[in-house]
Amino acid sequence: MAGSEASSKDSNWMALREDDGRAYLVNNVPGEVKIKGLGRFDPSVLLEGYSLGDRITVGQKSLTIVEAALPEARRNMNRRAQTIGIKDSGFLISWMGIGTGSRVLEGGHGSAGLAMNLANVMGSKGYLISVENRPEHAEVGRSNMERLAEFSTDFPSWNLLEMDLQNAASEVTGICGELDAAIIDIAEPWTVVSEISQTLRIGGRIACYCPTTAQLEKSWNKVEEDGLVVEFAGEIIERRWSKAGKGGVRPGNQPMGHTAFLLIAAKIANLEED
Ligand SMILES: C[S@@+](CC[C@H](N)C(=O)[O-])C[C@H]1O[C@@H](n2cnc3c(N)ncnc32)[C@H](O)[C@@H]1O
Repeated sequence: MAGSEASSKDSNWMALREDDGRAYLVNNVPGEVKIKGLGRFDPSVLLEGYSLGDRITVGQKSLTIVEAALPEARRNMNRRAQTIGIKDSGFLISWMGIGTGSRVLEGGHGSAGLAMNLANVMGSKGYLISVENRPEHAEVGRSNMERLAEFSTDFPSWNLLEMDLQNAASEVTGICGELDAAIIDIAEPWTVVSEISQTLRIGGRIACYCPTTAQLEKSWNKVEEDGLVVEFAGEIIERRWSKAGKGGVRPGNQPMGHTAFLLIAAKIANLEED
């Protein structure tokens, strides 16, 4: 998709938000729809006379009508493969300097968890290339991205390549030239590091998302073997706090879960010849 034409705040998408943060995305156009958790209704009839910011009752639920944005899209996304969450995608985006106008590859695309976070910050001048080799996963990711594009003001130019990352380099550079950043989230990242790092500009960065220590070590060895310089290796630990029953705030009871180790490496210039 040359994404920008699909992006508009003039879209009819909105979100119906429960007070606890759960939200349902609704496209306010005529025709009956079935929305999991809300039931069957015609949005154009249900929402007639209501505006953003109003409270509405649907069945037993009292909801606030809000703009549809990334948090609502993430809560409503279709899922098939395991997704990268905001804890890790936020860090990757910041460390790798991804922003307006960046040229970025991400693969495997899976359900588009990471891709949605990337698209949200890249602006209409950015190029996002997603790569996925399983058609059934590509279909789920595409549905999530297409819906996000419909209500984003500034969606990047987005291409989903349904192919193996091992063969993607020439296709990628054919679309946008050299990349600023590439994020690899597959079971064996080290098998595609050489192919993908070819597509980076000097100074560009590659990240490998590694749920296990074995994946981290193999990817680390591979990026160094290919002459890249590791800038960050480690994990981002999130610890939520809650309000205590008898007053005060304290760390919550939920365990601190593991997601993945992140490896970020930069491409540097070759050594000068004597
Ligand atoms: C863990 S999921 C990716 C999740 C995604 N990053 C997200 O945040 O939603 C891994 C995906 O990589 C795909 N994959 C695995 N090996 C691949 C390869 N060599 N080339 C392209 N895609 C691959 C799998 O089919 C799967 O959909």
